[in-house]
Amino acid sequence: MNEKQLIANFAANRIEDGMLVGLGTGSTANVFIEALALRAKEEGLKISTVASSVISAIKAQQAGLPVWAIEQVGQLDVYVDGADEVAPDLTLLKGRGADLVKEKLLAKAARRFMVLADPSKFVDWIGERYPIPIEVAPFAWRLVKTSLEDIGGRGDLRLNAAGDNVAVTAHGSLVLDMKFEVAFDSKTLNQLLSGTPGVVEHGIFSGLATSVVTVRDGRVQEVLGGR
Ligand code: A5P
Repeated sequence: MNEKQLIANFAANRIEDGMLVGLGTGSTANVFIEALALRAKEEGLKISTVASSVISAIKAQQAGLPVWAIEQVGQLDVYVDGADEVAPDLTLLKGRGADLVKEKLLAKAARRFMVLADPSKFVDWIGERYPIPIEVAPFAWRLVKTSLEDIGGRGDLRLNAAGDNVAVTAHGSLVLDMKFEVAFDSKTLNQLLSGTPGVVEHGIFSGLATSVVTVRDGRVQEVLGGR
């Protein structure tokens, strides 16, 4: 069993009968969806889900899990997702995919947000490996880019997989992938980005994770965080 499977199985075993579970997006979330569906089937658990992306919704439905529309949900018991970077204070970087808006919405709405992170995801500071994904209203991208350059941001619009045009997210936004020359701490950068007009959402998840599940020395560990 590989690390992602170990982590996903651990998380699936933490889900209780009757829970409404938020499903993240990405390769780790996929393994969790499979593990959750298997457990629900084997143990006859009544689990409902709400998905952060069309891809995860279809995967869950195909695996036999009931999926609610996000519009029907006021609160959820737990949200389970991967991350691109995890800092020591459990701030996350997410958004390499196209589903950032729903991911953050569900992470915030859930009573618990369990992050599934294999050891490769841990960093000393947010932005160490990846630029910060910043979703912008399409008409605002140039103005937002200028605002971010004024505070030391460098980067450009994300391109689609073929590389022949800009990428458009599930929400219909464009994405500026930006590195910052100034050494902002993630809390400050979170506030600066959230306060920039034209920014729809960004990939810094500050104060949202309630725990991070990982593997150390071959053993699954859950590191608890606060909100
Ligand atoms: C999707 O937008 C992302 O936030 C993913 O959750 C993140 O990239 C982790 O993906 P993997 O589990 O595939 O590494």
